[in-house]
Amino acid sequence: MARLSAESEELARTIIPRYPRSRSALIPLLHVAQEQDGWVSPEAIAHIAELLDLTPVEVLGTCSFYGMFKLHPVGRYVVGVCTNISCLLLGGEELLAHCEARLGIKAGATTDDGMFTLEDVECIAACTDAPCLQVNYRYFLNLTHEQADALFDDLRAGRRGDEVPEHGTLTRVRQRIASERWSGHGAEGLPVPPGQVR
Ligand code: FES
Repeated sequence: MARLSAESEELARTIIPRYPRSRSALIPLLHVAQEQDGWVSPEAIAHIAELLDLTPVEVLGTCSFYGMFKLHPVGRYVVGVCTNISCLLLGGEELLAHCEARLGIKAGATTDDGMFTLEDVECIAACTDAPCLQVNYRYFLNLTHEQADALFDDLRAGRRGDEVPEHGTLTRVRQRIASERWSGHGAEGLPVPPGQVR
């Protein structure tokens, strides 16, 4: 799997100077890597370490702390079904079992065609709209089993591209900010996380 591509490295090099200490750019650069490949590969970790003058172990230590960063390939769509208390009381366990049956995999696995990775997740802060799930961290709330089926069918058919981006993509709108904009420290120089726009 790839190190950061030339385009990703160029983006990384515009992000690093936004921080007083280069190592503070670590998490944004991990997002760049995950957006590129859908997961954070060992080669990308080594490349980020080089860019930030860190060791690969330091990069891995941060990366592995956060569940949103994947250290192995995942499906095009990562489906996280909440089974915490509110969802549990309103059918979250049943929804997860239904998703397992529908996709033909157990939680933690990826479908053979690489389309879906299914996860059993803790509270995703949408308790008032239980039961709920996320697909690539986009919310689907008050979900019936039939709505879950329709969602999976739509995703397979490519009909939800405007709602659900590829895994690892924080936003559908890539910021376009020239690196020179960040050379000053005025109001226009305030840092913006990668993947966000002003
Ligand atoms: S318990 Fe499911 S979103 Fe909070």
